[in-house]
Amino acid sequence: MTDDANSMWGGRFAAGPDAIMEAINASIGFDQRLARQDIEGSRAHAAMLAATGILTVNDADAIREGLLTVLSEIETGSFQFSTALEDIHMNVEARLKELIGEPAGRLHTARSRNDQVATDFRLWVRGQCDAAVSGIEALQRALLVQAEAGADWVMPGFTHLQTAQPVTWGHHMMAYVEMLGRDASRFADARARMNESPLGAAALAGTSFPIDREATAKALGFDRPAANSLDAVSDRDFALEFLSAASICAMHLSRFAEELVIWSSAQFRFVAMSDRFSTGSSIMPQKKNPDAAELVRAKIGRILGATVGLFTVMKGLPLTYSKDMQEDKEQVFDAADSLMLALAAMEGMVRDMAAQPEALRAAASSGFSTATDLADWLVREAGLPFREAHHVTGRLVAMAEEAGVDLPDLTLDQMKSAHAAITDDVFTVLGVDNSVASRTSYGGTAPDQVRVQIARWKEALQ
Ligand code: ARG
Repeated sequence: MTDDANSMWGGRFAAGPDAIMEAINASIGFDQRLARQDIEGSRAHAAMLAATGILTVNDADAIREGLLTVLSEIETGSFQFSTALEDIHMNVEARLKELIGEPAGRLHTARSRNDQVATDFRLWVRGQCDAAVSGIEALQRALLVQAEAGADWVMPGFTHLQTAQPVTWGHHMMAYVEMLGRDASRFADARARMNESPLGAAALAGTSFPIDREATAKALGFDRPAANSLDAVSDRDFALEFLSAASICAMHLSRFAEELVIWSSAQFRFVAMSDRFSTGSSIMPQKKNPDAAELVRAKIGRILGATVGLFTVMKGLPLTYSKDMQEDKEQVFDAADSLMLALAAMEGMVRDMAAQPEALRAAASSGFSTATDLADWLVREAGLPFREAHHVTGRLVAMAEEAGVDLPDLTLDQMKSAHAAITDDVFTVLGVDNSVASRTSYGGTAPDQVRVQIARWKEALQ
């Protein structure tokens, strides 16, 4: 600290802050995660200040070199963060001053921490959009391997978690590939929209220095500078869009995780989860618990919580920057960490899990899963209106249930007692393989259709 109360802004202050003030005000405990982006932004800013003649080339070079030293100190863990210096921006600048002296004080020309933090955070969130897409694509690839292996393994399809119609394992896996494809496109959309540079908006009104915002935007990989300085410093839509996309993705992961929990239970045994993604019980020796799936199922809680949290922070804030906005970071960091971990855990589980085709088939064959095929046969072959066919089939299901057998086990005479037009031919549609093979409509569960979608996605994910 200099003789002022604060070396960065202490000119008009006679006293330093109360300890509580320092505690509530400081963000360095978490915004040190923005160090790399902060230094990248400052280096681009310094280069631009030299190119426009606002700084001498010598000063700018010293600043840019010094910032690299600061970065390596941070990355190797030797950097001493100071709470008194509030945040990452002032910590970096103060260290730069120790390293290079007077020119460090010129770095903050024509900018403010308001456009600086908006830039840093945008860069960070942009990186997380890319990471999310990578994580999603890795999971999609794992799902494709499962889908390809079991493109024609028959399993029960459920509505209301009651056996509905037979589907294939591959079809079920590909349902998640589709969902995840939308998730990836949401992150890509958000990324494209957020890719405007706030840098140069300065505190809120722009600056009287002849800066070149196109140059800094380009240096930082932004498509263009943000067009309104007030909006640029006060916008956190990019973080909200990231969180919204993350919430939807986490919801998908949660649904799949729930299925894995159910499927791996002794009552279902549809899949065997690998030991690598399971835990045991300290009291019940027989237990193998799907903890990873349960935790993935739960992560939506904190991710959606972060989304609601940031919306609540942002609502009602007048333009432009308010310190409330410092509360934008921790929740986004936590949500991003949670999402990346959930994606990685899900990928591992999917890669390692072993579906049990026998159990899938046995389950598909019970619960009168081909009743719709029977009704469809009555429409197609006997010319019944669908409503009547539905009714006749319902009577046959009741008959089978009473006898404790499945539909294909009924005799032809029993069938005829429900409707005289039924012939031997009906048995061809009552098997689960025939049932799935017949669902050849686009996007249907017939193995040939499933393979079409697998091929399309393999191509897309190349
Ligand atoms: N640590 C602050 C934040 O995260 C940086 C911006 C501070 N700006 C200000 N005018 N106090 O929002």
